[in-house]
Amino acid sequence: MHDDSVTDFDADETLSALPQTGEREVEKTLRPRHLAEFVGQPRVREQLELVLESARRRGVPPDHVLLSGPPGLGKTSLAMIIAAELDAAIRITSGPALERAGDLAAMLSNLAEGDVLFIDEIHRIARPAEEMLYLAMEDFRVDVVVGKGPGATSIPLEIAPFTLVGATTRSGALTGPLRDRFGFTGQMEFYADDELDQVVRRASAILGIEIDPAASAEIARRSRGTPRISNRLLRRVRDYAEVRADGRITLDVTRAALEVYDVDELGLDRLDRAVLRALVQSFGGGPVGVSTLAVAVGEEPTTVEEVCEPYLVRAGMLARTPRGRVATAAAWEHLGLRPPPDYGRSDQSTLFD
Ligand SMILES: Nc1ncnc2c1ncn2[C@@H]1O[C@H](COP(=O)(O)OP(=O)(O)OP(=O)(O)O)[C@@H](O)[C@H]1O
Ligand SMILES: [Mg+2]
Repeated sequence: MHDDSVTDFDADETLSALPQTGEREVEKTLRPRHLAEFVGQPRVREQLELVLESARRRGVPPDHVLLSGPPGLGKTSLAMIIAAELDAAIRITSGPALERAGDLAAMLSNLAEGDVLFIDEIHRIARPAEEMLYLAMEDFRVDVVVGKGPGATSIPLEIAPFTLVGATTRSGALTGPLRDRFGFTGQMEFYADDELDQVVRRASAILGIEIDPAASAEIARRSRGTPRISNRLLRRVRDYAEVRADGRITLDVTRAALEVYDVDELGLDRLDRAVLRALVQSFGGGPVGVSTLAVAVGEEPTTVEEVCEPYLVRAGMLARTPRGRVATAAAWEHLGLRPPPDYGRSDQSTLFD
């Protein structure tokens, strides 16, 4: 689903927000099926409830929905929930899979009335398919071009009224016309610790794991605001509890396990730490452009920007400024370093405003 480069980097990463090989199966078991089961995101949930309920009352498919936010926050889960709440079938595809407009036309013409069409990574859709989508979203119609050159004709084809659910980790990369055609955009935020605590307890119950409240709170706190990570840490801590203890997850077991897996106090992953270290050690704390920073850690700029930075910003470690990325004093301290004496008062301070 993601770039190979991205998946490769994270292949052995306990902390990555991206799904790991073979993880999709477990994720399916743990996926909430209904809005009421979906923890957190109160704003998006309430907005969605209204959109869905009003459509249900009017007996029409709801407006097209765009879900935007960093990996692992529940976009795919929500898309499935939308279909389940509407009692509708869901067809699933992704931006990169829709390289030719013909692929999309085939998909669209197979939709039944009220179906949900889920396009993951919709910002990566190819241009011709995107243009076809405009008309489909607006008028439930596609123009199929037959023939080539001056003799080419376009045949309008009606499609059944449907609801498009798009997911993106980069809403900024969507073109204006595409974004405008969504009636509702749900902006997913990182989860609060107490919400992730509920996610961990729910997953424990489903997987039959015995866990102490202090332990689930600890896992939640170190999960980078991301349910995918809290579910994964839970499974790693369970492994430890089974092999090195009596199977029950206590706070001590949790701490010892997270130590083994090299999960730091804040739950930052290897790439997060590499970015901070490069910023602080190679560039004196910044400001430095994101592409330069990406080269320094051997990653694609988009990975640094979409996977790594959002959480570093939210954790107060990194600031995005017009002149580039800047490490906060907290970042130096987190790496066990002391910022220069006037740090944050000279060059960088004006940037934090
Ligand atoms: N609100 C939630 N409540 C409980 N579990 C959740 C919630 N959100 C996500 N999860 C768990 O996290 C896993 C990952 O969620 P999901 O696949 O929906 O994320 P995503 O935003 O689509 O990620 P990506 O951008 O990588 O596609 C799910 O399998 C589910 O177990
Ligand atoms: Mg997804």
